[in-house]
Amino acid sequence: MKILLIKNIGLLATPLGSAARSGAAQGEIRLLRDAWVRVEDGVIAAVGSGAPEVPAGAGVLDAGGKLVTPGLVDAHTHLVFGGWRQNELALKLRGVPYLDILAQGGGILSTVTATRAASQEELAEKARAALDEMLSFGTTTCEAKSGYGLDTETELRQLRAIRALDGTHPVDLVPTFLGAHALPQEYRERRAEYVRLLCEEMIPAAAAEGLARFCDVFCETGVFTAEESRTILEAGKQHGLRPKIHADEIDAIGGSRLAGEIGAASAEHLIACPPEGIASMAKGGTVACLLPCTSFYLGAAYAPAREMVGAGVPVAMATDFNPGSCPCLNMQLVMNLGCLKYRLTPEEVLTAVTLNGAAAIGMAESVGSVEPGKLGDLVIWEAEDLNYICYRMGSSLARTVVKRGKIYENTVGRRGPGGN
Ligand code: NIG
Ligand code: FE
Repeated sequence: MKILLIKNIGLLATPLGSAARSGAAQGEIRLLRDAWVRVEDGVIAAVGSGAPEVPAGAGVLDAGGKLVTPGLVDAHTHLVFGGWRQNELALKLRGVPYLDILAQGGGILSTVTATRAASQEELAEKARAALDEMLSFGTTTCEAKSGYGLDTETELRQLRAIRALDGTHPVDLVPTFLGAHALPQEYRERRAEYVRLLCEEMIPAAAAEGLARFCDVFCETGVFTAEESRTILEAGKQHGLRPKIHADEIDAIGGSRLAGEIGAASAEHLIACPPEGIASMAKGGTVACLLPCTSFYLGAAYAPAREMVGAGVPVAMATDFNPGSCPCLNMQLVMNLGCLKYRLTPEEVLTAVTLNGAAAIGMAESVGSVEPGKLGDLVIWEAEDLNYICYRMGSSLARTVVKRGKIYENTVGRRGPGGN
């Protein structure tokens, strides 16, 4: 058996449990001083405080009296795509809105052109570099969506690239089918036909190959209506894919209400979420997956996170990494904005980027907290408390990342000023 003992943890901060935490419980975390964690064959075997027993043959990792948290869960990314879209910066600066760029055949549709032109290997290698960077920031589990193919062949190629990466990169990936990310140009005048293609060909093909766990839809003005979204997500359900919805990102057209009604695992963005959407998600047990870096990048408002916590909706937060509305891989920045813009406490933020993120992607039984039975996924921070990592901005403070009991040193974090 391979044993790793992480000792000399100044402060261990973690939510507890195997399900999303909501309301007051979102901010109730376990704080253990002078702690240690024993990982056996990649799984946490014991957690304690005081002087640990060192089993014969164990590897020992000294946390140097620093803060340790669970590995971060990035529950919403568009990890795999061809090209970038830096050309859109000039349009943004001229004030052209995000949905106008898309309506003119740019935005998501220009990434579709680049993705269709790329091989599975090219897509995977590009995403691998992104995953390396995410791991260095403390992300140990990551959801990854398709959605830049918009035809069966390319959507499956994206999902196969995700599967190949999951097998070869330390970060664990959870795949989501997002064929309903935009209406492809060739179906511009044939919306109903594309919805049929999604339901009758693409979803069954992705499910038959076991390539996706979730089915997502961009429910938005000019993209898919709430009714189309319902049809697509019901088809996904019939093939064993749990629903997720990009809802109320720009306009509230019923996405958050549908999320609760259909029992979606999560609804994403929710910038314009109305009170009835919050009530519907609370009733349906849907996790609100908020993406504050996208609000920042689009110059948009911030989702009503405090209202969601107040209504008993579990809040998760993620990067939304994608080439258009958020080319950012850094969950630490997400944590900063969670405090400063959503007015969540550092404790609520920690739950949002660990356990609630895990719940949003169906992984709360194996990751998201530091407890026996969960994967040995942890971050040793160049910090002594949780306030510090939510307060510092723009640095990488993840000093050492442990994934399934394997150690990944982050030399930048170690060199940083750190500490209080
Ligand atoms: O979550 N809103 C839809 N999808 C992505 C953006 C994708 C893109 O612009 O390429 C998002 O923000
Ligand atoms: Fe997204």
